[in-house]
Amino acid sequence: MKRNVLIIGAGGVAQVVAHKCAQNNDRLGDLHIASRTRAKCQAIIDSVHEKGAMKAPGLFAAHRVDAMDTPAVAGLIRETGAQIVINVGSAFVNMSVLEACIEMGAAYMDTAIHEDPGKICETPPWYGNYEWRRRDRCKAAGVTAILGVGFDPGVVNAYARLAEEECLDTIDSIDIVDINAGSHGRWFATNFDPEINFREFTGTVYSWQNGGWQSNTMFEVGKEWDLPVVGTQKAYLTGHDEVHSLSARYPDADVRFWMGFGDHYINVFTVLKNLGLLSEKPVKTAEGQEVVPLKVVKAVLPDPASLAPDYVGKTCIGDLIRGSRGGQPAEVFIYNVADHKEAYQEVGSQGISYTAGVPPVAAALLIADGTWDVGTMVNVEDLPPRPFLELLGTMGLPSRIRDAQGDRPI
Ligand SMILES: NC(=O)c1ccc[n+]([C@@H]2O[C@H](COP(=O)([O-])OP(=O)(O)OC[C@H]3O[C@@H](n4cnc5c(N)ncnc54)[C@H](OP(=O)(O)O)[C@@H]3O)[C@@H](O)[C@H]2O)c1
Repeated sequence: MKRNVLIIGAGGVAQVVAHKCAQNNDRLGDLHIASRTRAKCQAIIDSVHEKGAMKAPGLFAAHRVDAMDTPAVAGLIRETGAQIVINVGSAFVNMSVLEACIEMGAAYMDTAIHEDPGKICETPPWYGNYEWRRRDRCKAAGVTAILGVGFDPGVVNAYARLAEEECLDTIDSIDIVDINAGSHGRWFATNFDPEINFREFTGTVYSWQNGGWQSNTMFEVGKEWDLPVVGTQKAYLTGHDEVHSLSARYPDADVRFWMGFGDHYINVFTVLKNLGLLSEKPVKTAEGQEVVPLKVVKAVLPDPASLAPDYVGKTCIGDLIRGSRGGQPAEVFIYNVADHKEAYQEVGSQGISYTAGVPPVAAALLIADGTWDVGTMVNVEDLPPRPFLELLGTMGLPSRIRDAQGDRPI
């Protein structure tokens, strides 16, 4: 059944979502996109038309909405007749958008855990702080809410479930490794919203090990990984959304997230942090002006969306999953490799936005055809992984498995 789609947000990820919805609009209904700046939404729609991305003739309309305002989002869902909302706005708007979806009976998706603008790096259980408290209400309303359906979180959660279903009898550890081996050519820039990016790394690093939460500091634990295509890369233990949901499903396994960083990023980050420039707490200048240091840093850094035209190189993101099969120790690495330039040529965004933006559209198609329309709140590992991963393979994000038998498509 065709279903109208409302995209919330007009950043790098929304650009990809818009193009992918357009490329598949024969299986979706009318398309709508909204953020606080209608012009940004219209520019995305213009780029969709420039690329001739609409598969079938149809509506794609731009709107203005403050997604922190639940009644306004509910009003927009009513006005557009949206039955699927793909929320790729800032993570601050997640709960207000979810509330609007519950009220209106629309399916909800996001790609990042909810954040309270006033709190940095909340303590686990993260999904338990906001999202899962609304699970019963989603179920009562029959609302499908798929949390964290980007790449990581998202596809990497499906990789864990695929390993559980098809590769291993027991799972002892899940190590998610995220390497961006690309280069944007700027002296320093973050690949997505600097505010969100830095907030991820300023607090305690949590991982799930030996049946409990372990705390470390950022860049305290580093390890070299030998990966397909991108080669040997150093990645650091980092706290990440999916460590929580995966540890809830696999409590006996160690669940860790590793993100690759170059020495230059670490140096700049360390200087900014030690100077206090990554603080979200306002300071007063000698002139009496009140400023938030983190927001000033964001204002002077390149807009992540502007990096796309010059970005070259590849990303490799995957799960190394260890356990046993047939009573013997076994391991699999399930992964995707994406190319920044190819992403830009197809949809006008860099590879990081591409890997995050394609999965929610695949999920929307699976909701529209009923496969994933489960009528309750789930994380991606709660859903059958094959239809999702196979669909992603046809949409530009193919997955591969490397194990004792070699390296092959899933
Ligand atoms: N799971 C993954 O793999 C993955 C990877 C990368 C990113 N992400 C997540 O994807 C999301 C989008 O990332 P991005 O790189 O596209 O970020 P971005 O470029 O900063 O875009 C965020 C968008 O949110 C909109 N927005 C902010 N506050 C809003 C409000 N109150 N009402 C309506 N719109 C609002 C902004 O537009 P206006 O200023 O016009 O309102 C902006 O276009 C983030 O949550 C990020 O954490 C997930």
